[in-house]
Amino acid sequence: MAEQNIAALLPAPSTPLSLTAVPTPAPEKGEVLIKNYCIAIQPLDAKILHAGYTGAGNLQSFPAVLGTSLAGVVEAVGEGVEGFKAGDRVVADTGAYSGVPEKNLRQGCWQKYVIAGAKSVAKIGDASFEQAVLVDFPLQTAVAALHNFLGMGKPGTGSADEKVLIWGAGGAVGSYAVQYAKSVGHTVIVTASARDTDRQKSLGASAVLDYKSPDIVEQLRPHGPFRYLFTGSGDPASQKALAALLQPAGGSFASVLGGDVELPENVTRVYLPFSQVSQKEEHAVFRDWWYGDYLPKVLTEGLVQPVKFEKREGGLGALWGATKEVFEGKIRGKVVLNPQD
Ligand SMILES: NC(=O)c1ccc[n+]([C@@H]2O[C@H](COP(=O)([O-])OP(=O)(O)OC[C@H]3O[C@@H](n4cnc5c(N)ncnc54)[C@H](OP(=O)(O)O)[C@@H]3O)[C@@H](O)[C@H]2O)c1
Repeated sequence: MAEQNIAALLPAPSTPLSLTAVPTPAPEKGEVLIKNYCIAIQPLDAKILHAGYTGAGNLQSFPAVLGTSLAGVVEAVGEGVEGFKAGDRVVADTGAYSGVPEKNLRQGCWQKYVIAGAKSVAKIGDASFEQAVLVDFPLQTAVAALHNFLGMGKPGTGSADEKVLIWGAGGAVGSYAVQYAKSVGHTVIVTASARDTDRQKSLGASAVLDYKSPDIVEQLRPHGPFRYLFTGSGDPASQKALAALLQPAGGSFASVLGGDVELPENVTRVYLPFSQVSQKEEHAVFRDWWYGDYLPKVLTEGLVQPVKFEKREGGLGALWGATKEVFEGKIRGKVVLNPQD
């Protein structure tokens, strides 16, 4: 029997969270109810909370519940769910940001009990809840962008003759993009802060250049041509640099952020909420591979080095302060917390 559910409700845009007793949702057909033991704060959540960002979050009404990824233990399963039972340790992403208010309240992850569609849930074996949430959202972002949208292959299928440029590899998404591209078999060139050089090499980068260098584009040119280009920082300077490196032939790059950036006509920027693609039926092939095959392997076989993390005590009550630190760029790595605390 589930205990009293508590949600960190966002009463209105950019207002302090209100920890509120709410009903525990019952899993409907194809859904799983998860007792939530771990969430990681993502920059997206921090931007919604502290800057009223309305892009990828797509909140249509308030109160709302933030967060789209969690790790925990299955409490109950709905009709027709196969492969999961009460007691399974799992990681999941949810449709909290799908733009449907009723779905947001049931699937928002900043609460003790969360509903997820069974198709975006994976068992985690003996991996810790922290390790599971540290990879699910940002690794999925990187792999969806590189594999599903830029057409990079699966691990072990690529050639070292094909070069990949990961710009802004210092963050979680960038660090995972480096590791995925390397695992596919490509030669990976990155831009990162100079202090991150040794770590980037240990993740698989062949060359690490400082993105703050004034002549960074000229420094990168001899390392190319690049078959795949991705910016893990997504800022306008990175988008313009990748567009310049695609000249004269033109081509595509993927970016974690959009924005109103003027780009040459022969360059296509691929931007969307990559972290949410498993929620869209049109990407079912990717989702089924991600949750049914790749993510469980990543967790049980330790295929990637997770980013570092800090755990905050205080459960949902710690969210406001912790998200502010993330928003202000004070954290390196991820902040995680346990909503049951
Ligand atoms: N489209 C999507 O689906 C999606 C999904 C996830 C994240 N995102 C977005 O992607 C961005 C990164 O997310 P994350 O989870 O990787 O964040 P993160 O782990 O917090 O990474 C932040 C790190 O990125 C580096 N960085 C910051 N600004 C930079 C810049 N202008 N140029 C190059 N590197 C820079 C910094 O490392 P150094 O100081 O070492 O350089 C910083 O510590 C966020 O804006 C987030 O909202 C989008």
